[in-house]
Amino acid sequence: MNEAKSIWMDGKLVPWKEANVHILTHTLHYGNGVFEGTRAYKTDKGMAIFRLQDHAKRLINSAKIVAIVPTYTQEEIAKAHIDVLKDNAFNGNVYLRGIIYLGYGVMGVYHKNAPVQTSVAAWEWGAYLGDEGLEKGIRVKTSSIVRNSTKSLFGKAKAVGNYLNSQMAKFEAIECGYEEALLLDENGMVAEGSGECFFIVRNGVLITPPSDSVLESITQDSIITIAQDLGIKVERRNITRDEVYIADEAFFVGTAAEVTPICELDARVIGSGRRGEITHKLQNAFFDVVYGRDEKFSHWLTYI
Ligand SMILES: Cc1ncc(COP(=O)(O)O)c(C=O)c1O
Repeated sequence: MNEAKSIWMDGKLVPWKEANVHILTHTLHYGNGVFEGTRAYKTDKGMAIFRLQDHAKRLINSAKIVAIVPTYTQEEIAKAHIDVLKDNAFNGNVYLRGIIYLGYGVMGVYHKNAPVQTSVAAWEWGAYLGDEGLEKGIRVKTSSIVRNSTKSLFGKAKAVGNYLNSQMAKFEAIECGYEEALLLDENGMVAEGSGECFFIVRNGVLITPPSDSVLESITQDSIITIAQDLGIKVERRNITRDEVYIADEAFFVGTAAEVTPICELDARVIGSGRRGEITHKLQNAFFDVVYGRDEKFSHWLTYI
């Protein structure tokens, strides 16, 4: 991993190698914690964090869902992202990982007496699903693992424990020779990727599932807004896996994955088998926005 100089931990910038936790950290044992993934892009006008306040707000909301009382406000968490970027002289695009977790002090499943701790780390991280994936598209497998049910877990929280579900799906996909997993919900409808939201294009219409059992994705919201601005019709409705097989285009979106085309699902070639026309258009528009080349969406950028 690309190590950086410092990590923000509960109000202090700590040297990277000293940013450690105790082995009896509560979150490490019982999986209750919440986190965020945010990106900062090196634009012509300097480093800019994409939709910083939305990410800080979702972190606070995630904590609320899993009954953790944050010790920092949304504003303070946003400022911590800025502080860590300022303290580290990055040369390229950066991924920021904010986390609210339960620290050392008590053991046992009941979590309310564990100390609440907050950290923001940042490091240089390129395309999550590879530069080639961004251009040529990736091969995806429908997962045998069903997305966490809303009957027992909370998909709208970006909670640490939810990612065991994602991790098992991703592991299965990679071991089977694919690059990413597509998870269905408990009704067999398309939910999301292990760390991405999902879109298809059919007859020029952009379709993406509702947020019923999935994360309320900031990139999905950005893509819907950008698509509408480009005059592309958008539908939010359920998608079945066989509809994906006959879609003209498909792609994943997420902070890490950005806009990654899907060329194959379960050994069925999607459309032309290459990055689709609308996917390409949206990908270009998205990169124009995050690199500050589109004034219309400059309010989504926080320059450092
Ligand atoms: C499970 C899951 N779904 C969707 C997303 C995409 O969300 P966002 O666009 O806010 O990064 C992510 C990544 O954060 C994720 O982990």
